[in-house]
Amino acid sequence: MKKQIISPGGGISGVAELPGDKSISHRYAIIAALSEGTSEIYNYASAADCRSTLECLKRLGVPVEIGRDRVRVAGVGLDGMKPPRRALDAENSGTTIRMLAGVLAGHQFTSILTGDKSLRKRPMARIAAPLREMGATVTGVDGDRAPLEIRGGHLHAIDYALPVPSAQVKSAVLLAGLFADGVTTVRESVRTRDHTELALREFGASIELEKGIARVHPRPKLQGRQIVVPGDLSAAVFLIGAALVLPGSELMLHNVGLNPTRTRVLDFLIGTGAVINVASLQLRDGELVGDVAVRHAALEGGTISGAQVAEMIDELPMLAALGPYTEKGIEIRDAKELRLKESDRIAALAEGLRRMGAAVEEFPDGLRVAGRGGGKLRGAKVDPEGDHRIAMALVVAALGAEGDSTILNADCAAVSFPEFFATLSQLRARG
Ligand code: S3P
Repeated sequence: MKKQIISPGGGISGVAELPGDKSISHRYAIIAALSEGTSEIYNYASAADCRSTLECLKRLGVPVEIGRDRVRVAGVGLDGMKPPRRALDAENSGTTIRMLAGVLAGHQFTSILTGDKSLRKRPMARIAAPLREMGATVTGVDGDRAPLEIRGGHLHAIDYALPVPSAQVKSAVLLAGLFADGVTTVRESVRTRDHTELALREFGASIELEKGIARVHPRPKLQGRQIVVPGDLSAAVFLIGAALVLPGSELMLHNVGLNPTRTRVLDFLIGTGAVINVASLQLRDGELVGDVAVRHAALEGGTISGAQVAEMIDELPMLAALGPYTEKGIEIRDAKELRLKESDRIAALAEGLRRMGAAVEEFPDGLRVAGRGGGKLRGAKVDPEGDHRIAMALVVAALGAEGDSTILNADCAAVSFPEFFATLSQLRARG
């Protein structure tokens, strides 16, 4: 477990390489596995989470070849997966376990899905309930937590209104719907990322989309293909955060995924004073992609609440870390889901930022981090509690503090952005 010492100051400058989008990579790999023929997925995420998905697919008998610039998945079709000999280990990845649960609900064999200590604490009732309604047998431990034993097959189509805004739950139901006996409908009252819907369409599924409703037709003939994963905006935000903390910074990012269900963070930052320009927007393989240029600017701060929360759920840690560098601070409400992520992110942020001297008020559903008036941060030793996004958020906070900070166990950043520290130091060397 490696620690990282972050010295503050300087600026960042230049063009940053981004890993492929984590959410989209999972989906392309899983849907490619269910397709006929071989897929070549370019710019597949380097995130450890996406490697977990590939390892699980291999255990299900799907030939996967991991090359330097692409992953090749030899699709086995809707009925070609084999019963795994051992438990499938999703490690730290909620998307892996929840999406694969949907796929396995469609298979007549029994399989076990598990994960690391953090994942085994996270709620799985949210997927177990609709999958049971469809006819799968799902047995968890301790109130539907992993390990989950799934015995699937003979699924009924359902019309399901999401009780929590969650793209992972939506995806689990839609993927199970591929195996159902009719059209499966998922309704959401709060918009969440729609990569599963778009990816299913790209691979040839019949899926109807209207505002807040997705309907998937069963037993499509999915066709393997070549496809390119856009750069990961949720990884990029930590570099954007660094540019916003360090005066004089300029950052350029190419081929960033700009799906409108993911870009709310950019709208928020622009609304609070950030100078961010988006150019060369184009639709590639069903996803919007473009270039993003960021320049340091003074930030006003503000509140994030309501429907905004689901659309920037993964960016909230970075936004909280920006709080002390804004005029009015950052307040996050309606975000109790944050307590159910890789760590209790509300508690972890409050603890880490307070150690650096930030004035933080914690609420059951969020937190308020005081702005500049709350005083300058000072370097501290902080523990991200094994949570990649907390580690990178605390780095953003540390960049503007007085004195060095030590981020313990910082290698957990590799769960989503293995190149984060190297990329940041390259950008700082040019700054
Ligand atoms: C994800 C959905 C979100 C997000 C996670 C990735 C996805 O989780 O926080 O990092 O790829 O579908 P929820 O569905 O639990 O909100």
